[in-house]
Amino acid sequence: MTYPFVRPRRMRRDEFSRRLMREHVLSTNDLIYPVFVHELKGRAAVASMPGIERVSIDELLRVAEEASNLRVPALALFPVTAPDAKSLTAEAAWYDDGLVQRSIRALKDRFPELGVITDVALDPYTSHGQDGLVDENGYVVNDDTVEALVKQALSHARAGADVVAPSDMMDGRIGAIRGALEMDGHIHTRILAYSAKYASSFYGPFRDAVGSAGALGKGNKFTYQMDPANSDEALREVALDLEEGADMIMVKPGLPYLDIVRRVKDAFGAPTFVYQVSGEYAMLRAAIANGWLDERGCVLEALTSIKRAGADGVLTYFALDAARWLREA
Ligand code: PBG
Repeated sequence: MTYPFVRPRRMRRDEFSRRLMREHVLSTNDLIYPVFVHELKGRAAVASMPGIERVSIDELLRVAEEASNLRVPALALFPVTAPDAKSLTAEAAWYDDGLVQRSIRALKDRFPELGVITDVALDPYTSHGQDGLVDENGYVVNDDTVEALVKQALSHARAGADVVAPSDMMDGRIGAIRGALEMDGHIHTRILAYSAKYASSFYGPFRDAVGSAGALGKGNKFTYQMDPANSDEALREVALDLEEGADMIMVKPGLPYLDIVRRVKDAFGAPTFVYQVSGEYAMLRAAIANGWLDERGCVLEALTSIKRAGADGVLTYFALDAARWLREA
């Protein structure tokens, strides 16, 4: 009988040595909370995202207070636009008194230290639900869209957004937005580029939440979001966005794309974020509701895995829950 000299289980035997050799630790500092804002009063549930609600600006301030108390660093805002405010030209995206612009002002007024991140893309404002302006064939036209995105990003910066986050995947938009921000004096406004954003089927519940699912219908975003089969292309997209002036880059969705997160972090060493998207949230919530998965264990494991893959932070609908559990731990 021979015995192993090397016994990896020795270090796993007790809590103290498990703690000592732990490589990655999820913290509240890693969390960004996405919030859906609507023009209506009060709150409205999102059927496919149990626990998530659309909120009025008044309620948004309550959410912000909770996030601040939990020391969650930032919120990411997503507007729910009324159908009659949508158009082919999406000009409601850059109204000075638009829903997002008013939300930013209200937040920065009450909670100046809480980071405010805004989504730059036209899908909440277009009657067809695409992220950009379309030609007569329904093709999303790149350069005209970039001009519109620049107006949208500027209006967010003027309202006081700390971070603008283009999620549209048009070519050249980071450089155009960066140039416009500099020219307009917003040298401190950060850009979080959704650089490797995949044409994923996991965005379904989000499109229900913001009401763009109906507008998009059977349409898809294959001509601008990336093919889930690709990996090298993600590195090219990240390289371009960093050259054009992005401060932070994002991979989206999360768990199915952790190989991309690792490659991106290794290749660039830039501040790297992951969006654990609505479909990932819905999957976990559904299994938890059925009693098939343990809530706290699975959510914290998923978030820790995203960090282990190389992310510096995570946009997650579980942000407030996770912050509460981490405080208790
Ligand atoms: C829109 C946008 C989407 C998400 C964030 N910004 C949806 C889409 O591209 O259709 C998805 C987020 C989620 O699923 O949680 N530009």
